Amino acid sequence: MTYAPGRLKAAPTAFVIVLVAVVAAACSSGTEKPPMTETTPPDRDIHSYARPWEARVIHVALDLTADFTAKTLAGSATLHVNRAAGAREIVLDTKGLTVERVTDKDGAALKFTLGNADAILGRPLAVDLPASGPITIAYRTPPDAAALQWLAPSQTAGKKYPYLYSQGQAILTRTWIPTQDSPGIRQTYAATITVPRELRAVMSAEQLTPEGEESAGGRTFRFRMTHAIPPYLIAIAAGDLAFRPLGPRTGVYAEPAVVGGAATEFADLESMVTAAEALLGPYLWGRYDVLVLPPSFPFGGMENPMVTFATPTILAGDKSLVSLLAHELAHSWSGNLVTNATWSDFWLNEGFTTYVERRIMEAVYGKARADLFRVLGWRDLATEIDRLGGMQSKDTVLHVDLKGRDPDDGATQVPYEKGAALLGLIEQTVGRDKFDAYLRDYFKRHEFQSITTAQFLADIRAHLLTDKAVEAKIRLEDWIFQPAIPVNALQTKAPQLTEAGEQAAAFARGAAASSLRTKDWSTQEWQYFLQELPPTLPVDRLASLDKEFKLSDRRNSEVLYEWLHLAIRRHYEPAMPALERFLLSQGRRKFVRPLFEDLMKTDWGKGDAKRIYAAARPTYHAVTTQTLDAIVK
Ligand code: BES
Ligand code: ZN
Repeated sequence: MTYAPGRLKAAPTAFVIVLVAVVAAACSSGTEKPPMTETTPPDRDIHSYARPWEARVIHVALDLTADFTAKTLAGSATLHVNRAAGAREIVLDTKGLTVERVTDKDGAALKFTLGNADAILGRPLAVDLPASGPITIAYRTPPDAAALQWLAPSQTAGKKYPYLYSQGQAILTRTWIPTQDSPGIRQTYAATITVPRELRAVMSAEQLTPEGEESAGGRTFRFRMTHAIPPYLIAIAAGDLAFRPLGPRTGVYAEPAVVGGAATEFADLESMVTAAEALLGPYLWGRYDVLVLPPSFPFGGMENPMVTFATPTILAGDKSLVSLLAHELAHSWSGNLVTNATWSDFWLNEGFTTYVERRIMEAVYGKARADLFRVLGWRDLATEIDRLGGMQSKDTVLHVDLKGRDPDDGATQVPYEKGAALLGLIEQTVGRDKFDAYLRDYFKRHEFQSITTAQFLADIRAHLLTDKAVEAKIRLEDWIFQPAIPVNALQTKAPQLTEAGEQAAAFARGAAASSLRTKDWSTQEWQYFLQELPPTLPVDRLASLDKEFKLSDRRNSEVLYEWLHLAIRRHYEPAMPALERFLLSQGRRKFVRPLFEDLMKTDWGKGDAKRIYAAARPTYHAVTTQTLDAIVK
């Protein structure tokens, strides 16, 4: 449901009270910690078939075996359910799963029905509830389950062992676990995972058997997550994984060939956690580890609890891309502790996280460095808004309308950067000390809960913006419910980037490449410089830049990406081998999507795009191919 600003205050209070009573009754029978909030039907998650007000999953116990030959996870999911009085069935989300049988606690068959498939949502699985006890679903995943990527040894660093990993956000958990796949339906979980003997399994949970145990089918690992989390955070990886500790509660997992470099790159991780705690309150998840995935991982990072999943493209060798860790770490509060109740509330996850990411960067590396990211982020937002069709596009609304759409469509720079800009404005308006105190209390008040935008608004009005005049000054509702960027947005300046911009302008005016002052430039100055160059630069000018600064040979993924982006638009032929290598060597969607788009926009590049994509596609994760299939055709 989308809010019109005027409708907000007319929340159906009586209905909410009735619902709270139903939920309280529903929770009273369970042994697990009851869910603390309910997503009210007016804020119903339109991306789930579940009807949690009737019956909701509170705990998932997985028992799965990974078969790398068949590319399938097979076994069972046992679901513990809280139900309202009189509820006779529970509706789950599935997509592509083969359901073999559903049984009660004594093994007796339960009637179940798989409904029609929707291209986005998958199929509802309705199960007749037993008189008491959990239900067990015996099932298997298809080889093309969208959450899972089964990598051949050739796609790993070591080239010897296969690799498996999952990506649940936004609505892909249903492609490997039959549960209620809605961020408002928090669940604890346990898992028994059997993988081939040579592999190690890692999950977004406490490891009960770090080395695994020999079993008939291979090596078996057990995990437990005792905090109720949204199901998109259930995650698994299995491969030839080594571990290096970084601090008392931090460490890094990666393939043996990668783990040493990753440990050096991430040396500041423990300080980041300490800085985040000083800002936001205690870190409640125990360990904070990072798993560096193979290069096909479709995202920069994914904030799976206790173990962030990260792309190896941030291993720049000079720590210059570790703001990504600050970002995923920040999600331990904004996202994992306090979660968007529906995907229209995604900005509560990403806007808060982007704001906090920069506060962590500021605490660990100083304000000047943090401001680089603020400025670059603001620029990314402007570029994104152009791509979305300009300021009046409805996709520039923070509380975005996703009716009939994949939640992925809402994952633009808008929830990240417009969201962060709103919080920056609130901070500036009320003062940093007051805002920080509010942030800490906000996370404490809602810990382990999923909340809607309306609940956030009620919270901030009750606890921070109690003065209506202050709220009016901020124009809070315009920011959240209207398109465009309100005029009161703050502008951060970063002198180092201004300087890089001046060098770009000088070069555009005809200055020689050798005369540019680029000494000591970090990744971020290079990014900004390349973004500032006019897209109309003649090819011989690109050649002189390339010759002087060896841009086509850069190993830094962000710098190389910006360079290739420019090179395609100018059809700078000498960069094309580097482009092909880049597209074939990693599958991070943020990089490959715009580059394929650039190619497809040209007459000369379409054929190359199709040829390269045909070779790269089998190596990419489904998240990336789903996006690219619509572009390269
Ligand atoms: N949670 C997101 C990744 C995500 C978003 C996955 C939506 C699926 C749907 C993660 O925290 C994130 O934002 N990653 C960014 C990096 C970050 C530094 C902006 C990414 O992957 O680019
Ligand atoms: Zn994020």
